[in-house]
Amino acid sequence: MQRATVNDVELAYVDQGTGPVVLLVHGFPLDHTMWRSQIDALAERCRVLAPDLRGFGRSGPVDEQTTVIGMDPFADDLAGLLDEAGVREPIVLCGLSMGGYIALAFLRRHAARLGGLILCDTRATADTADGIAARRQTAQRVLDEGPGFLAETMPSKLFAPATLQERPELVDAIRDVILHTDRRTIAAASLGMGQRMDSTDLLPTAPCPALVLVGQEDVLSPPAEMRALADALPQAQFVEIPGGGHLAPLENPEAVNRAILSFVSSLALPAPADGPGR
Ligand code: MLT
Repeated sequence: MQRATVNDVELAYVDQGTGPVVLLVHGFPLDHTMWRSQIDALAERCRVLAPDLRGFGRSGPVDEQTTVIGMDPFADDLAGLLDEAGVREPIVLCGLSMGGYIALAFLRRHAARLGGLILCDTRATADTADGIAARRQTAQRVLDEGPGFLAETMPSKLFAPATLQERPELVDAIRDVILHTDRRTIAAASLGMGQRMDSTDLLPTAPCPALVLVGQEDVLSPPAEMRALADALPQAQFVEIPGGGHLAPLENPEAVNRAILSFVSSLALPAPADGPGR
């Protein structure tokens, strides 16, 4: 992995392949390895950037004082990472779940950098009052106890029933990532998600084509909700991934990779600018 200091945090990221830049943004409380079945496949035709967000995976820890306000600091880190990686051309930004919330914050703050937007298993609405209260409870509990309870409870919501039964290696890998995530990072991200803005009104302003992907068996951001999100975007394709739950890219990578590569090749993205960078 490469490393770059962005907004005072050292971010670890994969930078692989050449071609149009596809920036993959992971969900909560995970890291870039949730894209492990995408990176090699997409890098055959694209330049894939897959960071660990601040505090997650191998990126530098968030310190005691760090509070994440909404999703904006993560979005600004991505913009800073593009600068550090020498990317000046429009990119395809692909975020899953919390990564999708971050992609929408990026759309609000850095729209000019977008050549395409991929939203996977996510939502545009803000949390309800009950949802915000649950985020606060999660944050406090993880600070008190560590992430063990999340490693136990989250997989049943993240995967389709068949994945849970038949692919224990995928479930164990995700459990392991959760268990190794710093409790302060999880708490900050949980509170940050509770503070995120409602992006419903932002969707019609998207300046670029979009692809909306959802696992057919996603219970956290179900297909009907994702279809409504796609309908609110000015130029969006909607694709349901068979056999996928909330982590469809891990559960059915062939279908996800096919949809992403076909979307990227449909975009008339300008070639990377010459000059320093890589
Ligand atoms: C995620 O997968 O990133 C989370 O399910 C997002 C959330 O808790 O809203």
